[in-house]
Amino acid sequence: MTTSTSDVERSDVERKAVLDSAEDMARLDPGGMLKIVSDLPQQIRDALGIAGRADFPASLAGARCIVSAGLGGSAIGGDVVRELVADELKVPMVVVRDYDLPAFVDRDTLVFVSSYSGNTEETLSAYGIARERGARMVCITSGGRLAELATRDGVPLVTIPQGFPPRTALGYLFVPMLVALARLGYVRDAAEGFEEAELILRDLAVVLGPESPTSVNQAKRLALAMHGKIPLIYGSSGITGAAALRWKTQINENSKTHAFWNAFPELNHNETVGWGAGEDISKALRVVLLKDKGDHPRVQRRMEITATLMGGAAGIDEVYSLGRSKVARLLSLVYVGDFASLYLAFLYGVDPKPVKVIDYLKNELARS
Ligand code: F6R
Repeated sequence: MTTSTSDVERSDVERKAVLDSAEDMARLDPGGMLKIVSDLPQQIRDALGIAGRADFPASLAGARCIVSAGLGGSAIGGDVVRELVADELKVPMVVVRDYDLPAFVDRDTLVFVSSYSGNTEETLSAYGIARERGARMVCITSGGRLAELATRDGVPLVTIPQGFPPRTALGYLFVPMLVALARLGYVRDAAEGFEEAELILRDLAVVLGPESPTSVNQAKRLALAMHGKIPLIYGSSGITGAAALRWKTQINENSKTHAFWNAFPELNHNETVGWGAGEDISKALRVVLLKDKGDHPRVQRRMEITATLMGGAAGIDEVYSLGRSKVARLLSLVYVGDFASLYLAFLYGVDPKPVKVIDYLKNELARS
């Protein structure tokens, strides 16, 4: 089958039209994901209220290391917190996405166990191990078995609202962890950063939201750029790395398509070599560089040089963080990616909300 230029142009025009049609987007979004994502600033405010009312006993202070255990949308909150506190937390913090916990976990470890549903088997296994080892624990969940276990065992429990796809509950999942670390004396209070983040996200909700036309909407333009390509999201080993991982997983789950991420400077020591592959391979890739003013100056230079090496890519887009505080900068990057992943879903004609493959896997595992 041959495709004429006019066909290509017409399909581009038609695709773009979906993103400028409130009706088309409403049809493709019966679960209201655009609204849920738009509401992130309010969710953060609510999460601050929930965390403010939570009880974090003094016995949780003074641990020698911190672990965040969870999977998927309930794990990314741990990455977000780890990057936000990296330059002030005096003890190591590790994010574990597995059934098992590392051997170092003991009674001097503070373990946050997060599962939005409360029923993820790997997370429940990690809960059991943390209990066995006598770790100090906090559970964050909307209910399920995890809430039952924490209640039975007298483990501090932060109960977050039900009814969200886990990946859209990022605010509910990371804010209580950060508030707990501040209240227990591990890090400073991040209140000021949250105020700034809320203001920036509220502004972004307008400029990235469905009513903002493609001609001026960065998230819609990024979705068009990634459409038909495999997105490669590159951050660096700071807050942009956590944001890059979030972009990748949101594109997977919302847009139902492949996406990969990596971080500078490490990618310069392996992945960059792959750009020597033939143009026919590289042209299938669309690169998004996530940039932040806190990036190490040498990383900034590395990004510039690497961009010239990736000339074979279908294109390279750059997204800059906004704000002064780390919270605002990280969340501003996350927010662009969250919206872009929804618009990409619409371009593929898929409903961003259900993740049938994950549900299928969980059901099959539950049967065996
Ligand atoms: C679904 C999602 C998934 C889940 C993961 C773990 O929206 O984001 O990645 O987060 O399957 O489930 P929970 O979060 O319930 O522990």
